[in-house]
Amino acid sequence: MKKILVTRRLLKSNEERISKIWEAKLNSNDEIYPQNKLIELSKGCDGILCSITDKIDEKTINQLSDSIKIISNFAVGIGNIDTKAARENNIVVTNTPDVLTNATAEIAMLLILGAARRASEAIKWVKNKNWKWSVDFLMGKQLYESRLGILGMGRIGGAVAKRAKAFGMKIHYHNRSKLKSSLEEGAIYHNNIKSLFSVSDILSINCPATKETKNIINKETLDFFPAGAIITNSARGEMIDDEALVQALINKKIYAIGLDVYNGEPNIYPGYLNQKNVFILPHLGSATKKTRTAMANLAIDNIVEFFDKGNCTNRVN
Ligand code: GLV
Repeated sequence: MKKILVTRRLLKSNEERISKIWEAKLNSNDEIYPQNKLIELSKGCDGILCSITDKIDEKTINQLSDSIKIISNFAVGIGNIDTKAARENNIVVTNTPDVLTNATAEIAMLLILGAARRASEAIKWVKNKNWKWSVDFLMGKQLYESRLGILGMGRIGGAVAKRAKAFGMKIHYHNRSKLKSSLEEGAIYHNNIKSLFSVSDILSINCPATKETKNIINKETLDFFPAGAIITNSARGEMIDDEALVQALINKKIYAIGLDVYNGEPNIYPGYLNQKNVFILPHLGSATKKTRTAMANLAIDNIVEFFDKGNCTNRVN
């Protein structure tokens, strides 16, 4: 029987399934393992089922025992794992695409709506019990007929586009490559970020975190946006230079910000916390029971497939 280290607590039905298939080392206390503990616990195991809170960098991978053949990430984003170092150590890395697309696109829409319609301020007013209606009380920006820039038109970007279109938004996007016209559904392609940002009344970041996308929102690129633009991020915190974004908000170049993901989570750049027009969530993209169950099942299926066939459809390295 294969031995699998599961680094974080999963939902009960998923843990029960795991325990039926393998000799599993579960983490019922849901402690976040420091790297040395993860290395220690993985000794004698054949694979690791890990989460985005596990930073499996080159140093960690080089110290994993030779028995580890697969790292199955409970996420679609794989920025927490050095996939190249894994390949060099003959370790297959897999992820969980598709199953979280709809849930994450819903959170992207929540960020857009929450930022544009000033939801954080509004909730505060209601809780303080001191609001009264007036003609210009908490006026926000309307989505209808505004231009949505989507940075990264993959599965999640595409699902955001569909939803935003239903709100009457005009869709623009930048991606490594242009989609086939039949898949664009009217969205307008920009072959560079300057061109995309300059037409983005609202931006939704949906690209993966890579060397190329790190700090793609920075002092220079913020200048490309129309005055009063809104920036939202439901992908990964690494895409944003936080200091530059907060400064652009203070200077009123940027009207509002909507964030679900952060540099150095669960920490958050303190500058966001004392600005009124920042709508923030604690990385909830895939956080529905249906989606989290499906993600864990896929992370399990990936390991099963790998040990059955010697490879896996959702291999990323
Ligand atoms: C969640 O953030 C994921 O990448 O799956």
